[in-house]
Amino acid sequence: MPTPRKVAHQSTDKGQVPVYTTAVVEQPWASYSGQDHQTWATLFRRQRELLVGRACDEFMENQQRLGIGADAIPKFTDLDRHLRAATGWKLVAVEGLLPELAFFEHLAAREFPVTWWIRNPQQIDYLSEPDLFHDLFGHVPLLLNPIFADYMQAYGAGGVRAATFGNEPLTNLTRLYWYTVEFGLIRTPAGLRIYGAGIVSSKGESIYSLESAAPNRIDFEVRRVMRTRYRIDTFQKTYFVIDSFEDLFKATVDPDFGPIYYDLKGLDSIPAGTILDSDQVVHRGTGEGWASDGDI
Ligand SMILES: [Fe+2]
Repeated sequence: MPTPRKVAHQSTDKGQVPVYTTAVVEQPWASYSGQDHQTWATLFRRQRELLVGRACDEFMENQQRLGIGADAIPKFTDLDRHLRAATGWKLVAVEGLLPELAFFEHLAAREFPVTWWIRNPQQIDYLSEPDLFHDLFGHVPLLLNPIFADYMQAYGAGGVRAATFGNEPLTNLTRLYWYTVEFGLIRTPAGLRIYGAGIVSSKGESIYSLESAAPNRIDFEVRRVMRTRYRIDTFQKTYFVIDSFEDLFKATVDPDFGPIYYDLKGLDSIPAGTILDSDQVVHRGTGEGWASDGDI
């Protein structure tokens, strides 16, 4: 595979990680090696099986609708046909994490940046930065869901606006993305299910987030989430539970983020594992195995 071009290390929602050129590239599909396809196959099969009864139906059904399977790394252009017809989104191939504003601008334009390269076989279980498996397997299916797709666009548009308000609103927004798009849980008649891409693309966290007694599980409330710090180096201490994707969309447009930033201005952040008296607690975590510091 061609080598991705790192341009800088920046503090992002994944910690101090490389940020890549902002250029959108063509997915160099012909350059994937047999080993790359094999890595995709191994991860795809393992997660698809593990997520039965754990991921929400919208994720499982939409992933199937995309027509992807274990046999080969999907072509972005094939996925675009499904996305365009369902919700008007398209994928753009990128080298890796983008600078924040560039990322928001893509979302606002209904373009989802997907890292084109895939991890190597030694990184099957953990990789600190997003790769093709995380971005494509984890994020793309829910872009077929009209309400979630609208939420993602509204989030991007909110990010573009927040960039003009300074650091605090951007931090608030990053936490919202973290605890919803990446690590969100949803309540269903059959019990709690996963919809966050950071969880569905992780074998360990797919089990831990739902079945471990250690983490807190708390009802989603947008202001609460926007004040809450998080972990980038371990499983989360707290997961927030939505009732439906409408909850997310309402949080972005009704009210607009503007009054929320005003309400939150100057308030202390909340440590990742803390439960507040005002929380609607689904499960109070035992805290077993939690690191004592390192929330960001
Ligand atoms: Fe992600």
